Amino acid sequence: MATNATYVIAGASLAGAKAAETLRAEGFDGRLIMIGVERERPYERPPLSKDYLLGKADRDTIYVHPPQWYADHDVDLRLGLAVTGIDRSTHEVTLADGNRAGYSKLLLATGSSPRRLTVPGADLDGVLYLRSVQDSDRLKAAFQDASRVAVIGGGWIGLETTAAARGAGAAVTVLEAAELPLLRVLGREAAEVFANLHRDHGVDLRTGVQVAEITGAGGRADGVRLTDGSRVAADLVVVGVGISPNTQLAVAAGLEVDNGIRVDAGLRTSDPDIYAAGDVASAFHPLLGQHIRVEHWANALNQPQAAARAMLGQDVAYDRVPYFYTDQYDLGMEYSGYVEPGGYDQVVFRGDVPGCEFLAFWVAGGRVLAGMNVNIWDVNDTIAALVRAGQPVEAARLADPDVPLEGLAGG
Ligand SMILES: Cc1cc2nc3c(=O)[nH]c(=O)nc-3n(C[C@H](O)[C@H](O)[C@H](O)COP(=O)(O)OP(=O)(O)OC[C@H]3O[C@@H](n4cnc5c(N)ncnc54)[C@H](O)[C@@H]3O)c2cc1C
Ligand SMILES: NC(=O)c1ccc[n+]([C@@H]2O[C@H](COP(=O)([O-])OP(=O)(O)OC[C@H]3O[C@@H](n4cnc5c(N)ncnc54)[C@H](O)[C@@H]3O)[C@@H](O)[C@H]2O)c1
Repeated sequence: MATNATYVIAGASLAGAKAAETLRAEGFDGRLIMIGVERERPYERPPLSKDYLLGKADRDTIYVHPPQWYADHDVDLRLGLAVTGIDRSTHEVTLADGNRAGYSKLLLATGSSPRRLTVPGADLDGVLYLRSVQDSDRLKAAFQDASRVAVIGGGWIGLETTAAARGAGAAVTVLEAAELPLLRVLGREAAEVFANLHRDHGVDLRTGVQVAEITGAGGRADGVRLTDGSRVAADLVVVGVGISPNTQLAVAAGLEVDNGIRVDAGLRTSDPDIYAAGDVASAFHPLLGQHIRVEHWANALNQPQAAARAMLGQDVAYDRVPYFYTDQYDLGMEYSGYVEPGGYDQVVFRGDVPGCEFLAFWVAGGRVLAGMNVNIWDVNDTIAALVRAGQPVEAARLADPDVPLEGLAGG
């Protein structure tokens, strides 16, 4: 590895930090600069809607590396600073402080940002989003005083925050535009499990509703009005209506962008010296034969490690089976696989669905596209192997708890 090479990482979160770690672990001894808008050193977001928000995990536990790690590994970490542009002709990035930094290779790990509501009242005090550790701190503080919380969006943020708000003793109303929470990602059968879970925990879950306005008094939100004219009173409104990938730098630089920065299986963009990984990347997945953009922790953990190896000239094809997890109340779940909305024939359940201890398999053409384990542990690697095998499996055997999972691929 040429020592005079400079690698720049734009975005100092999980994806950026894991790329830096891998570059050093693989022996890159050139200059390594990581630039991030947030003032915080790289940290993980999953605890922000779970144990950290619930006050069960300390701040120290969220960081990817201890503070000294960056100096110890000669990573020039520049925080509170935005990359403002990419000059591909000179191989430089421009920075918000007016400086430029040259790069031999550049990794875009700029992640994503919450979509904002645009309805009247969306800017009132007491309307909170959740992306950063500061957002989580604000929410935790707001739970102290809030007795009625309205959550707009029944996705991952909405449902995990709902569980935390219930834990903090608040009455919660969830306002979801679709027919069911998590419908797009899980489909009707499994989405119903989450709808029931929250209703069983006393949540007023309203689906198929449209928010018309956030109402307020004295500059502070006091409720949500729906398009059917009804109103939900609330002293705190939490919004989780999805994210947009931070593709602005890539767009301005003329890189290929289509629902994320388009990269090949080696995480390389349409410019051979620029790579992308994490939430922002729409990567060609060799197993699935299509580009996918994954907005989950495991992808931000593993994909940049592959990108780092590719930046070092190694032959890389990132083909891990997509994985995510959630914790809500006493339900813990893991999911491996990938299913387009409506892209399955049936969901096969194994185990006790009402008792929330079961497996679910999304099947199309007899093959398992994805599987989920709910309150059953140490099986997700086997589920991922089943997905990867892509062999036909009989539904009756999938459903039968007496048939070991290990033996399922191949009929
Ligand atoms: C509250 C919360 C809980 C979650 N829980 C789970 C979970 O339980 N399970 C799961 O699988 N996933 C979970 N996720 C999703 C997971 O955290 C994300 O997929 C992951 O954070 C993506 O990492 P990333 O590094 O690609 O992007 P990000 O985490 O978005 O980081 C990108 C970084 O780049 C910075 N940046 C952006 N533009 C620039 C620029 N121009 N210059 C410099 N810096 C820039 C941003 O400020 C940010 O710090 C959760 C997300 C949130 C918000
Ligand atoms: N456990 C996890 O994997 C986890 C946990 C938290 C966050 N995250 C990630 O964080 C990001 C943000 O999460 P999120 O929950 O905001 O997004 P999401 O895409 O998971 O869910 C958004 C939800 O909001 C609904 N919605 C959209 N517009 C609406 C409107 N105007 N009114 C009412 N409902 C509306 C959608 O139908 C959807 O159900 C995602 O990338 C997510 O994957 C993941």
